[in-house]
Amino acid sequence: MCGIVGYIGTKRQAYPILIKGLKRLEYRGYDSAGIALINGNDDLNVYKAKGKVADLESFCAEKNIEGSVGIAHTRWATHGEPSSTNAHPHYSESKNLAIIHNGIIENYAEIKKNLMDKGIKFVSDTDTEVLVQLIEYIQERKNLDLLTAVQVALHQVIGAYAIAILDKRHPDTVIAARKQSPLVVGIGDDEFFLGSDASPIIEYTDQVVYLEDGNIAVMKLGEELKVVNILNEELSPEIKTVDINLGQIEKGGYPHFMLKEIFEQPECLKNCMRGRINVEQDHVTLSALIDYRSWLLNAKRVIIVACGTSWHAGLIGKQLIETFCKIPVDVEYASEFRYRNPVVTKEDVVIALSQSGETADTLAAVELAKEKGAFIYGICNAIGSSIPRATNTGTYIHVGPEIGVASTKAFTGQVSVLTMFAIALADAKGTIKHGEYVKVVQELASIPEKITEVLKTNEQVADLARTFTYAHNFLYLGRGFSFPVALEGALKLKEISYIHAEGYPAAEMKHGPIALIDSDMPVVVIATHNAMYEKVRSNIQEIKARQGRVIALVSKGDEAIAKIADAVIELPDTMECLEPLVSTIPLQLLAYHIAVCKGKDVDQPRNLAKSVTVE
Ligand code: M6R
Repeated sequence: MCGIVGYIGTKRQAYPILIKGLKRLEYRGYDSAGIALINGNDDLNVYKAKGKVADLESFCAEKNIEGSVGIAHTRWATHGEPSSTNAHPHYSESKNLAIIHNGIIENYAEIKKNLMDKGIKFVSDTDTEVLVQLIEYIQERKNLDLLTAVQVALHQVIGAYAIAILDKRHPDTVIAARKQSPLVVGIGDDEFFLGSDASPIIEYTDQVVYLEDGNIAVMKLGEELKVVNILNEELSPEIKTVDINLGQIEKGGYPHFMLKEIFEQPECLKNCMRGRINVEQDHVTLSALIDYRSWLLNAKRVIIVACGTSWHAGLIGKQLIETFCKIPVDVEYASEFRYRNPVVTKEDVVIALSQSGETADTLAAVELAKEKGAFIYGICNAIGSSIPRATNTGTYIHVGPEIGVASTKAFTGQVSVLTMFAIALADAKGTIKHGEYVKVVQELASIPEKITEVLKTNEQVADLARTFTYAHNFLYLGRGFSFPVALEGALKLKEISYIHAEGYPAAEMKHGPIALIDSDMPVVVIATHNAMYEKVRSNIQEIKARQGRVIALVSKGDEAIAKIADAVIELPDTMECLEPLVSTIPLQLLAYHIAVCKGKDVDQPRNLAKSVTVE
């Protein structure tokens, strides 16, 4: 999704900061990039290129890149095709102003028509250009300063935005504003930084302000950061210290962020459980469950809202909560939930699952459930993001920044938090026997070591990937807790290798997908030693009888399946409810290695964005 970087200062050149910042935001996915700089002689120059930030750099090679004030953007097309014309920044007609924008102006067509009727000419197809033209029109027509013109314009627009604007007549000021699209201001020593998240900023300062919806920030040289609202009421921004470091967002020697993030999982899950599982490993404490005990104890139903991988984690959460807490759980695609007028009551607890905390559909589902009086619990990764701020309470998964577009460590982090949530609530409700509670806590605490063991299969999985790279289709089968893992394995493969893949509950195979099976069809089956083992083994026989090629994930030492499958990957034993945390790892690796064999862009797959901040 689109990314924003900005800089204003006196001691440094803006261009290198902006370019580096754009590179840090590449993980969000984009199709073009651009930069606007106020040069020494108060010129406002805009440079844009379709493609990667590297293309923008080449384009700027011979240009004037002097100056210590600038804004920059990576665009992920919504209105208008990916092109250098539609890329941001956009000038106003006079070229006095330049704007960058994340989000969507929903009533842009109407505003554009009004402005065109007044003779204003447009060069792009974007909603963003409409906004900057509107600001200029208001500014000139009413002879207003830029801040007031921005406030009046934002009053007229409907939609979501994070914007930053330069005015070449006021080269000492950058104005930024947000509504439903994140924006962070970094505060340095007589300098300011701007980012759609903190990653372009943290190299320079750890002092940041996360703008709230409706905030307009005025970054003026020689003055403190000023934050006002649309009515020009002055607000007191809370300055926070960010604790992510650059090492956390760089590749650390791995060829891709995705591989680094897969291998980080043991450490990430330890961080996720630290301070929550006690040292004796017999108790889980989640502060949200203490602070909001009665709300949660009295919940008649839990509704989990999420998208993509987070939705798969939600399916596992359903089984955990129903098994241990005996509360019915619905798992909803946030995009469907928000539009189907769902029945939600004050006795419902809605859990919003999101790695980024910025997914537009999940955020909208939260707002809807809030309006209907439900209690909202967020399980997110990005600290200070929009969803945690919109919830009553929640638990961060604390797995560190996830850069690869294909989610890996966030999934296992979400499942770990859902496990802790389910058993802690079950303990409080008295729906779990103490012995079983302690057993789950102990076993959960041992999962990081078990993942380390599974990661040793990396080379074996890489070999398998070479064998199966030819495939055009894959089936993934699992039952019970393993069914969402099958869905997640299929999604990972689709996302980064562009191979069509489907996940199914194994027993559903006979109801249709079995027709697809022939000697070209690889079928990944999660067939560990649990209650469903014999039934899944029969499914494998059925696949082999039709010449399908079986890759089976089995419990260590399973000889029966090894005799019939084409390949087996052994997993350490664990409790059935925790199996997703180990069985998902080889599936992440399989997708990764197949994508590498096919020469695909693993970390930034085509058409995908890391953080889907538009619906
Ligand atoms: O940030 P979120 O967890 O809310 O994102 C939800 C989905 O967009 C995300 O999981 C997506 O499906 C990933 N690309 C999966 O790898």
